Amino acid sequence: MSLQGTAAMVTATSGSFIASHWSSINRATFNIDWYLLEHDHKGDKKCFAVFSLHVHPRKNDTSVKNVIGHRWRTFMCMCNQQRARMSANDALLARSLAHVWNPCTQMKQHDTWPMVPIARGEGAWLYDLEGRRYLDAISSWWVNLFGHCNPRIGGPLSEQLHTLDHVMLAGFTHPPVVELSERLSALAPRASDARLRAGGGPLGHASYGSDGASATEIALKMAFHYWRNRGQPSKQRFIALAGSYHGETLGALSVTDLAVFRDAYAPLLKVPLLVPAPGPASAMPCCADCTIDALAALEAALERCAGSIAAMIVEPLVQGASGMRMYHPDYLAGARALCTKHGVLLIADEIMTGMGRTGTMFACEQAGIQPDFLCLSKGITGGYLPLSVVLTTDEVYDAFYDDSSARAFLHSHSYTGNPLACRAALATLDIFAQDDTIVANRARSAALTARAQQIAVHPHVRNFRNLGMIWAFEVDCADPAFGRRLFTAALERELLLRPIGNTVYFMPPYILDDAQVAHLVDGTLDALNTVLEG
Ligand SMILES: Cc1ncc(COP(=O)(O)O)c(C=O)c1O
Repeated sequence: MSLQGTAAMVTATSGSFIASHWSSINRATFNIDWYLLEHDHKGDKKCFAVFSLHVHPRKNDTSVKNVIGHRWRTFMCMCNQQRARMSANDALLARSLAHVWNPCTQMKQHDTWPMVPIARGEGAWLYDLEGRRYLDAISSWWVNLFGHCNPRIGGPLSEQLHTLDHVMLAGFTHPPVVELSERLSALAPRASDARLRAGGGPLGHASYGSDGASATEIALKMAFHYWRNRGQPSKQRFIALAGSYHGETLGALSVTDLAVFRDAYAPLLKVPLLVPAPGPASAMPCCADCTIDALAALEAALERCAGSIAAMIVEPLVQGASGMRMYHPDYLAGARALCTKHGVLLIADEIMTGMGRTGTMFACEQAGIQPDFLCLSKGITGGYLPLSVVLTTDEVYDAFYDDSSARAFLHSHSYTGNPLACRAALATLDIFAQDDTIVANRARSAALTARAQQIAVHPHVRNFRNLGMIWAFEVDCADPAFGRRLFTAALERELLLRPIGNTVYFMPPYILDDAQVAHLVDGTLDALNTVLEG
């Protein structure tokens, strides 16, 4: 006989209940795996226990089975009584911990650091199951552009839901994917200066994936295959910037230079040619000399290795995951010119920087460049559904256009070009057009920057910087748990921040009103002071 318990939760005051049952069950032949965490929730100390009981009675011993069965039922009955008394938040957390393996998380950290249950979103706010709210200052991992549950996206999406849910894109096509491809092609960056242009016309061909990393995979594979089809199969390697982040699937991780993500999988990964990023994190925003030095290093690398390099991949203007490292558009322009000169394709990973985040629709516009590949995801659907796209030129497209399947780009995902995701993206583009969002964001950005001066001059704050709708700064604090403590202190002030180490950043949706800006700045300062004093 084997029984498995569901999650149970008891308060600290009933600790004796746990202790007595734990020992009585333990004396019997039960094996109990359990999990205990304590946390402060509105000042209450709670004892949170998930019990999983595997019962292994002696063979053919029915009396033992009966005793165990009886004890089990009594135990579960008492647990359920306790459970009835636990809060809705805690009940969801218990169920989540029992079965959900969260992304990018050492699950054991939740022994001491409760995750945040969220029931609904509205505008810039996220609400838990008991009505507590948090201002989403990081747009839910940089995806949400126009607030949660925005009817201007939800409305068209629900119409699409009743029109066409999904059809495979191989051998089929549909209105949302066609319209989206046309509109993105028309919006994509173009360069007036021929040196800063991709070789083969505008970015007129859209290939679809789901998350950001799948766009990176598409761009890397396409660049590699392009050279193969062009009779230069030795061009196989990629150049990436030091501190780069392009996603966590194996190909994307190969061009990612963050040890925390990369090291465990290093034996599985290709090794990129890393070139220095234009400016160390300690000298933000990046200086003119940094740009010159970094371009010199890139040129030297290209002179040495261009014959084996398929493409260079960059996060234009802001290296996000390595700590919102901002650099000058001159670097991007210089890198484009050098790639063109040395016959190397340029992949602009605008998965984070695209869709208005840096103050222009695409960061590449600020450098006046056109890449050979433009990768988009995250905000493209306004934060509603997973979708990514890689835009490329006629020249690349034509290299695959042939009678032979071996020369085709045989890459697909089941949900490629999903109509619902494309519809959400179209609704997002409609909001950009109707509200002139790029222009309107200039005033929003200036207002938040002005309000945040109190943070910029804080004695423990360094490198306060802003580009478009991104703000970041470093905090002088030796405590290795600084980020986690600030996260918790911010939550207590109805604010969702998620520092990267000692770098604190804001990447809010493009809808904050004055009161929300004040809430963000005042809450951050207050949380910061509390953490620094503690
Ligand atoms: C620049 C960049 N590229 C790629 C990715 C990967 O996107 P996803 O997490 O959707 O796979 C990210 C995610 O943060 C990113 O910032």
